[in-house]
Amino acid sequence: MTSSELLYSDPLACAAAAAQEIITRTGVASHDVALVMGSGWVSAVDALGTPAYECNAEELTGFLPPTVEGHSGKVRSYVIEADGKKVRALVFLGRTHLYEGKGVEPVVHSVRAAVKAGCKVIILTNACGAINTKFSVGQPVLIRDHISLTAVSPLSGATFVDLTDLYSKRIREILKREDATLDEGVYVHWRGPTYETPAEIHMMRTMGGDLVGMSTVPEAIAAHALGAEILGISLVTNAAAGVTGKKLNHEEVIAAGKAAADRMGALLKGVIPQLF
Ligand code: HPA
Repeated sequence: MTSSELLYSDPLACAAAAAQEIITRTGVASHDVALVMGSGWVSAVDALGTPAYECNAEELTGFLPPTVEGHSGKVRSYVIEADGKKVRALVFLGRTHLYEGKGVEPVVHSVRAAVKAGCKVIILTNACGAINTKFSVGQPVLIRDHISLTAVSPLSGATFVDLTDLYSKRIREILKREDATLDEGVYVHWRGPTYETPAEIHMMRTMGGDLVGMSTVPEAIAAHALGAEILGISLVTNAAAGVTGKKLNHEEVIAAGKAAADRMGALLKGVIPQLF
C-alpha cells in the first residue's frame, strides 16, 4: 500500500507510522509541543534558534507536497530551554488546506502525527481577515472559540467529542499574563479558495464571528480528539471583505503576516516552557 493510500484508508495508522519516523529520525522518543506555522508565520520560528533536525515533510509517510506560496513544507525539531526546563518542539512549516480538494485527512495528518509522537500541546497559527473592526492588520489574536462554516469534521463514526474548552483557557491565560495586549476572538472557518463575499462577512458578524480564515479548525478538532491541548493564534492580515471596500489579495496577506511574526516567535519561545 502506498503512503497516500494508507492516509485515506487508515489515517490513524498512517499518523502512527509518520510519528515513528519522526522519533527515529530526530532521536527524540517524545516531543512535548507541536507548532503549525501558517501563512506569513514561517519567519516566527527564527526566534526558536537553530533546529536540531529538519526534513521535507513529504519524506514522511502520509505528507503531501505543499501547494501554497509561503508554505515551505518542512518538519523541524527544536530544543527550547528556559527556566531550567527543556522542551522538545516539533515545527511544521506549512500545512494542507481543505480548499486544496484532497479531503480532510491530509489537513489533519501533521497534528495527528505530532500527538502520536508525544505532543501534549498543539499550537496552530494562521492568517485571517478581521470581521470585527476592533482588530487591526498585524495584530495577533488568540482564538477563544470557532464557528465551522465548512461543517467538515476529521472525525467519523459515533465519536461525540466535547468541544466546550477546545481552545485551552489555561494556555490563553498564560499567554495573556505574558503579553497583556493580547485579545481573543471567535474564528470562522471558511473553505475557500475564494475569499468571502461582503454579504457572507455580514452573516458571520451577525453569528458572532470576529475573524475568518481557511485553516486551523479541522486540526484543532483532530488533535483535541486525541487528547491534546490546543492554542490557536490568528494574525490579522486584512480587514475582511466589504469592511473597507478594498479587494483582498494573497501577496498582501503574506506580507502583513511577516511584519508581526518576529514578535510572536519571541513570545512563543518565552511561553512554551511555562506550559509544562
Ligand atoms: N478570509 C479568509 N481567509 C483569510 C483571509 C480572509 O479575509 N485573510 C487571510 N486568510
